[in-house]
Amino acid sequence: MASGKQNAVIYLDNAATTPVHPQVAQAMLRALQEDYGNPSSRHAMGLAAERVLRGARREVAARVRVDSGRVLFTSGATEANALAILGMARRQRRPGRVLISAIEHPSVLATTRMLEEAGHQVELIPVEPGGWVDPERVAEMLDEATFLVAVMHVNNETGIIQPVCDVAQAVRRVPSCRLLVDAVQSFGRLPLDLPSSGADLMTFSAHKIGGPKGAACLVRSERAALAPLWGGGEQEQGLRPGTENLPGIVGLAAAVELQSELPSAREEYAAPLVEAALARHPDAHVIGDRSRRAAHILSLAIPKVKSEVLINLLEAQGVCASSGSACHSRRSLRSHVLEAMGVPLDHGIVRFSFGPQTTREDIERAADALGSALSKL
Ligand SMILES: Cc1ncc(COP(=O)(O)O)c(C=O)c1O
Repeated sequence: MASGKQNAVIYLDNAATTPVHPQVAQAMLRALQEDYGNPSSRHAMGLAAERVLRGARREVAARVRVDSGRVLFTSGATEANALAILGMARRQRRPGRVLISAIEHPSVLATTRMLEEAGHQVELIPVEPGGWVDPERVAEMLDEATFLVAVMHVNNETGIIQPVCDVAQAVRRVPSCRLLVDAVQSFGRLPLDLPSSGADLMTFSAHKIGGPKGAACLVRSERAALAPLWGGGEQEQGLRPGTENLPGIVGLAAAVELQSELPSAREEYAAPLVEAALARHPDAHVIGDRSRRAAHILSLAIPKVKSEVLINLLEAQGVCASSGSACHSRRSLRSHVLEAMGVPLDHGIVRFSFGPQTTREDIERAADALGSALSKL
């Protein structure tokens, strides 16, 4: 696997994207060079490509424990989330209600906001200061008009695991309501499949698990009926028309298959980084409820420190980290997630996210770099 160490870079931004695993690259190269037929063509090359596509769909379906017909391939999780939300909304006969957690990824938040233009009512589910959604709160907010609830599995900025199975139980009390779980940051890292989660719609993305950018998946239960967002073909059951990105899909399936073999992020990775921050800044703290944090994402809040300056100082020492989500970090916008959790504005944020290629040595070097960066601030 491509390691950050090759260019003396310690890559700790795996929640933004991950290096493509060599086995994934190999599978994709084969698809590019050998299986270049259009899966819709009826000649031998087309039929061969269709077989490859079917194999990839079977692989993904088995991993999330659904029938192959329940797997839709898309261009990214952003599109998968949009297809789930807008596709559900387009099936409604009259305007209804949608509940979304206040800490969803912008691909969910912004798309859901679009429903307001169609007359639907959109409400935010607040989170606890520890960064998690209380399922009882969801139960209180639900009513018969609610047709969709969206709660992600692991938050991309904090790594806090959301109690999606308990949320699903609450949602089931309204028979016509469906649950969307964005599993982009948990897929392959934490056990979750569609039947055991109780979700109706689940999304994940190849580039967060050692696969390529531009390939993702929406899986749905029998209960989740969708309408397409555009026309133009019968691909993906007519729900996502357009010639399939076969190399991307092959890469996605190869990455999915690999997950069971790869080492997972270790709980003890957090300690040296937290200690380095505390040594220079006694008020530094881990964002969110520690007991609910997934091991592969660690977000630290450091009072009176500017995130951008800290990230730049880390980068100067070869450490790639981020100040939250990739979408926010370039524009220095205030994060809606931290705002929802009530994290004070004067706190600098640094997010370290680990991948299967992360080593203990990477962590030790990053902790030294963090200590040295903080001593300069
Ligand atoms: C939680 C979450 N959902 C959705 C997305 C969007 O995924 P993609 O980059 O495949 O569009 C991301 C990407 O950062 C994410 O972290």
